[in-house]
Amino acid sequence: MNSDIILETREIVKKFGGIVALNNVNIEIEKGKITGLIGPNGAGKSTLLNVISGFLKPDHGSVVFKGRDVTGWLPHRICSLGLARTFQIVKPFLNFTVEESLLIGTLKKRSGSEAQELIDHVLEYFELDELRSKRCKELNVTQLKRLELARAMTTEPELLLLDEPGAGLNPSEASKFMKMIREINRKKKITILIIEHVMPIIMGLCENVYVLHYGEIIAKGCPRSVCKNKQVINAYLGEKW
Ligand SMILES: Nc1ncnc2c1ncn2[C@@H]1O[C@H](COP(=O)(O)OP(=O)(O)OP(=O)(O)O)[C@@H](O)[C@H]1O
Ligand SMILES: [Mg+2]
Repeated sequence: MNSDIILETREIVKKFGGIVALNNVNIEIEKGKITGLIGPNGAGKSTLLNVISGFLKPDHGSVVFKGRDVTGWLPHRICSLGLARTFQIVKPFLNFTVEESLLIGTLKKRSGSEAQELIDHVLEYFELDELRSKRCKELNVTQLKRLELARAMTTEPELLLLDEPGAGLNPSEASKFMKMIREINRKKKITILIIEHVMPIIMGLCENVYVLHYGEIIAKGCPRSVCKNKQVINAYLGEKW
């Protein structure tokens, strides 16, 4: 495997009963870059993230992360190797405080004052400092989205998978959130795979884009070339792009 490739999927197939959610999916994620994953509802995007992060086992094919075949590994083990994710529908620990819910990820790699230092840094970075003692169930959507990202960051990932991080946010919140994501990539040198429906966000953030349609990759390349691809226009984008 090319050393610039941090993650590769090889011929992934995932079926749910009669539905073929992923059909021979091959993608390569380049180290240090932001890669986009787009496609219509039901295309298989979240399923692919679930397979990569170990939440689902593929029926066929393999996932190679940092040169190791991690197919079938449990999520926590893949996470320990440096892969973190956020969920399309945020999954907060409702009765935990913001600070407590960050502690869990932190303790994977650190303890005591080191863990606390990391939590303090992440709380400040994601502007959650003043909310540290609030219970998660008291947070609004924007705060929960930031917490979700903060939680993923406490595991100190090399690769971050983001499933529609902008969903549920108004345009100005979404734009602020995307700035945070770009900063995580640039300043912290974390590779990112992002699923997003809002094309200007994909155009602004990503160097490479994959397009899924009915479980198959129908196009890949830089955002500009993907937007001009006839098959992508017909399947997903429409003519306005
Ligand atoms: N756990 C499951 N059990 C059964 N079918 C599922 C399951 N998860 C996904 N599917 C089906 O697999 C297909 C792909 O779903 P998936 O959620 O991956 O799509 P998606 O591209 O993320 O869509 P969206 O943009 O709406 O989030 C859909 O037909 C969906 O109904
Ligand atoms: Mg999805």
